[in-house]
Amino acid sequence: MTKHKIALLDGDGIGPEIMAEAVKILELVASRNKLEFDLVHGAFGASAYFEHGHSFPDATKQLCDEADAILKGPIGLSHEESKKIPVDMQPERGALLPLRRRYNTFANFRPVFLPKGLAHFSPLKPEIIGDGIDFIIIRELVGGLYFGAKEAGINSDGKRYVKESLEYDEDQIKRIARVAFDTAMKRKKVLHNIHKSNVLKSSVLWNEIMEEVGANYPEVEVKHILVDAAATYLCLNPGQFDVMVMENMFGDILSDQGGGILGSLGLMPSACIGPDKAYYEPSHGSAPDIAGKNIANPYSMIGSVAMMLEMSFGLVQESRNVWHAMQSVFAQGYSTPDLSRPGSDLKMIDTQAFGDLVASELQKL
Ligand code: IPM
Ligand code: MG
Repeated sequence: MTKHKIALLDGDGIGPEIMAEAVKILELVASRNKLEFDLVHGAFGASAYFEHGHSFPDATKQLCDEADAILKGPIGLSHEESKKIPVDMQPERGALLPLRRRYNTFANFRPVFLPKGLAHFSPLKPEIIGDGIDFIIIRELVGGLYFGAKEAGINSDGKRYVKESLEYDEDQIKRIARVAFDTAMKRKKVLHNIHKSNVLKSSVLWNEIMEEVGANYPEVEVKHILVDAAATYLCLNPGQFDVMVMENMFGDILSDQGGGILGSLGLMPSACIGPDKAYYEPSHGSAPDIAGKNIANPYSMIGSVAMMLEMSFGLVQESRNVWHAMQSVFAQGYSTPDLSRPGSDLKMIDTQAFGDLVASELQKL
């Protein structure tokens, strides 16, 4: 029997609740496909700091090293609570970025997907949504400003100052460009390259390399769009996008905007792929305000499982089945309170009930 070891990093806030639903689906997938998933939980994030003194403890590093894939929940605390943790141990700097660096997970896939029938979740007008929203953001995840050298101090005028650098070398850009073009080849063969070359030198090099790599993909049409303009088009006409590629910070911001046009970041799963290891995570935060209330939708976590099934284990059909099962639950008019606006006539269910319904829909496929 094929056996895969999966590290489960529940994280903070709503993390454990939505992870429990993802585990339900993983167990069902294992039994349906005669596979064995060895699911091992590891401490990660603020909760790990309070329990073990480190937000990415050594035992978790070892677990992740040994795992065939990693499923990670959201991390982080409220602004006030974060202050109880030393700056470098705060879960973003102390756990998440080190996880990305450790496995060099440079390619971040963030699907922004909402079928026409679920347009009610979106704040956009139905005529803008048209046949639905369906594009994917490919974000470079281990370079740029988030990983560049940083310094802060007092300058020669006695003023507090800060300096952070945005660096990319050509190999870093080439590899994400190839991922983007390969993805475009599998979809509609249109790639939107997002940049800011009217101001940033980093974008000038980025665009140059996109053109060079693009020469090997003559079938793909490349459209270069400034990042600020892209933010507008995402609201006015998201249907024009199919695959979008961008550097780390642009991707952080525009992918949250992607969640915004769907109606919630709770609808945003993601995959973070490195040369030898991949991890999967919701694109959203730990939502401390609704933690423990059993109202968070597990879609982003179960969607991350679907991405893992396809991208780490090659279970393409089963991955589609999981997506389909989630969409069917929504299509029957169900929602969790976190996703719906006041006054909606959707049938409200809790986190666990949503997971149960996804499992029962999956069993029908
Ligand atoms: C994301 C998150 C992270 C990021 C934070 C938590 C460091 O916002 O995955 O988009 O900025 O990359
Ligand atoms: Mg973000």
